[in-house]
Amino acid sequence: MNYKKSFASDNNSGVHPEILKAIEAANVGHTFAYGNDKYTSKAKELLEAYFGNNIDVYFMFNGTGANVLALKTLTRSWQSILCSEYAHIYEDECGAPEKNTGSKLIPLKTEQGKFGIQQIAQHLTWLNDEHRVQPRVVSITQSTEFATVYTVDEIKAICDFCHANNLLVHMDGARIANAAVSLGVSFKEFTRDLGVDVVSFGGTKNGMMMGEAVIFFNPELSAEAKYYRKQNMQLNSKMRFVSAQFIAYLENDLWKRNATQANQMAQLLYQKVKDIPGIQVLNQVQSNGIFAIIPKEITPALQQEYFFYVFNEHYNVVRWMCSFDTTEEDVLNFAAAIRKHIGA
Ligand SMILES: Cc1ncc(COP(=O)(O)O)c(C=O)c1O
Repeated sequence: MNYKKSFASDNNSGVHPEILKAIEAANVGHTFAYGNDKYTSKAKELLEAYFGNNIDVYFMFNGTGANVLALKTLTRSWQSILCSEYAHIYEDECGAPEKNTGSKLIPLKTEQGKFGIQQIAQHLTWLNDEHRVQPRVVSITQSTEFATVYTVDEIKAICDFCHANNLLVHMDGARIANAAVSLGVSFKEFTRDLGVDVVSFGGTKNGMMMGEAVIFFNPELSAEAKYYRKQNMQLNSKMRFVSAQFIAYLENDLWKRNATQANQMAQLLYQKVKDIPGIQVLNQVQSNGIFAIIPKEITPALQQEYFFYVFNEHYNVVRWMCSFDTTEEDVLNFAAAIRKHIGA
């Protein structure tokens, strides 16, 4: 298989050179472990510059761990978590949220990967009934697993409805940078300002080697988080090497440059493939991915040239993801390969 460049996942790309440089620069002498170091303080300060003061930040190794920490901190085992039917927490975390929280995850129907208050409201029944799990958290993914983006108004409506109904809002922001670039607003304007309670803030998919942060906007909610992080084996002893990545990522707008590139390349790919006969693009391309039905018979040969995943085998829906290092040339060559295999 050719691993040169693929359209499989933004996890398949490498590490941005500025991130690698920052890791190397942090590799001097000894410092205190477990986050009591100057890099971690600085990374937290930078997150405060983006999100405002009085936030509680927990640096993590990976996105599943970040989601689990956020959800574990917000729920009790008799409470439920409402999320999209395609949510990473529901489909792709091997039951880690259920195992660690003990809570039931309830999938909501979506359109373009998004749900709204109607879907949430349907589950606000049997409240205070001891036979039923009690809804407590709504988790939205931004950008979504379908590479679409919730608008500011959509998030506000969800937050207002949730808070009026004693529900908390978690945002899985594994691709939050792609969403910010797509919306053209600051991180704070589509999270904290709207009432989101906790964000899993991703970095790995957008050029970091490994690193996510859980950010609580209400410190009362996060009183137990430090214990759960350790219990869930996500307390990094050499935390400076995650924190140093966040400094490089946040300080010089690397997050924005990388996400802009990935989103623009997905847009270019969309423009190049949307009119090819036999290709049906299913999603509104609002971030860095395309979901399309393509002729089944061309899939294996095309995958040999440019690896990507089949998202739905029955309908042969494929997922093409762009990364921070996807170039215009990569996209044009890929689009030409699609044309060649289809015979268009
Ligand atoms: C929407 C979403 N959330 C979270 C994650 C984090 O996963 P991981 O534990 O692999 O870092 C992913 C990874 O693909 C994702 O797509």
